[in-house]
Formats: sequence, C-alpha cells, structure tokens
Amino acid sequence: MALTTTRKEAAARIMVGLDKPDVQSALKVAEQLEGTGCWVKVGMELFYAAGHDIVRELKRRGFRIFLDLKMHDIPNTVRGGARSIARMGIDMFNVHAAGGSAMMQAAMQGVSDAVQACEVQAAPLVIAVTQLTSTSRETLNAEIGIPGSVEEAVVRYAVLAKHAGLQGVVASPLEVAAIKSACGEHFLTVTPGIRPAGAALGDQTRVTTPREAVDGGTDFLVIGRPIVAASDPAQAFESILKELTQA
Ligand code: C5P
Repeated sequence: MALTTTRKEAAARIMVGLDKPDVQSALKVAEQLEGTGCWVKVGMELFYAAGHDIVRELKRRGFRIFLDLKMHDIPNTVRGGARSIARMGIDMFNVHAAGGSAMMQAAMQGVSDAVQACEVQAAPLVIAVTQLTSTSRETLNAEIGIPGSVEEAVVRYAVLAKHAGLQGVVASPLEVAAIKSACGEHFLTVTPGIRPAGAALGDQTRVTTPREAVDGGTDFLVIGRPIVAASDPAQAFESILKELTQA
C-alpha cells in the first residue's frame, strides 16, 4: 500500500470479523464502525444465531459483507448453497479449497444460477479457504496428513481455486507473496491472522501486524478480536487505520 493511502482507502481493505453471539452485540460493534467504509465479516457464530436478519440490517447500514461460512460439501449441495447465499445480496463468500475443483466450480455455478435467474443485482466474489491461519506445520503434517510446508499446501490450493474460476483465497498474510507469484497480482488475498503489535495471538499461529500485511501485498485484512473484543472497538479500529496511513 502506498504511503499516501487515505483513511477511506485503508478502511475499505479492512474486514472486521463480527464474531458475536447475537444481533444486539454485533450491532453494538457495527454502529461504532458505521460510515468508516470498512467491510464486516459475518461468520458462523453470528450467522447461525441471527441469519438473514443480521445480514439485512448490516446491508441497510451500508456495510459490504463477507459471509464467512466456509462451505465444504458435495458439489450439488454447494451449488444450491451458493445460489441461496448469493440471493442474500452479500458481497463475498467462501468455500474450502479442500473440497476440490468440482466443488469449487459448483459454487461458481450456484452464483451464476442466481445471476441468470435475476435473483441478485451483482454477483458476490467467491474465494477459497486454503489452510486455516490457526494451522501449524505440525498439525498439517501429523493430523491433516498433508506433507510439506504450510506455504506449499496453501499455494497448491490457491492454484486449484484459480483454475476453478474463483476470484481469490483466504490465507495468512505470510503467504501472500507466494500466492501472488503463483496466481497473479489480480488474484485476491484475504488475510486473517492480523495482530497489531502487542495484541494477544489467541488461537492464531501465522500472524503479522496490519502494516506488515499491507506491505506484503494483501488485498483485504480480516481483523476480529483485536477490534471486536477491545474495550473500545472504535478506538482500536482508529489506531489500525493510523498505522496503515502513516508514513
Ligand atoms: O479474532 P481474529 O482476528 O483471530 O479473527 C479472525 C477471523 O477470521 C475469525 O472470524 C476466523 O473465523 C476467520 N478466519 C481465520 N482463518 C481462516 C479463515 C477465516 O481466522 N483461514
């Protein structure tokens, strides 16, 4: 990101993970972010509790929404699921690359079903989860059964996702350079595992600071607990913006 980046430009690249258990607590955080131009990420904790209601309300308040439900099922089910998700009018959603090419293509097909049936105004972006940012090499090798480094596994999935027609991947900011070099500059990278200096890691293992992530070429920074679990989320968001816009 250029040093001349404006607040609006920086905010438009931040996706705040609204990992909250109900509408009320999610909106309490969201209202502190209204008007900044940031995205919000609705994941399974919030969506399984509040479903379409919270999506509609966040849209009404002008947020762009990444619906992070990480679909992973047989292609026919994913196609139908993707069509239903697209109909909700969200802006981005994801599937697991581990579901394979046919499953990822089915997700794209579901979106195009919705577009062709005029059920959506604009097609959402579809991205693939590569390896969770909580996954260490040890877990990858010994438990999941994939040999080699996390980066190798991530890049292999990214290439698979690109060939299946997806627009990008979720990965750690540490893997962005390798993904861009394998899939091209325009292939989107959406990166959780962001921790401002001094913030608690929680269950994340492959992390960078916001500034390191944008300097490394990431397109979107997913930031959850450092903002939503802060005593003052607006202030936490502000200090991240400051870090991104300062020379
Ligand atoms: O609180 P924290 O900043 O760790 O939140 C990261 C968010 O990104 C969580 O909602 C998590 O579910 C999500 N995520 C992730 N790693 C992935 C995909 C999504 O941490 N690979």
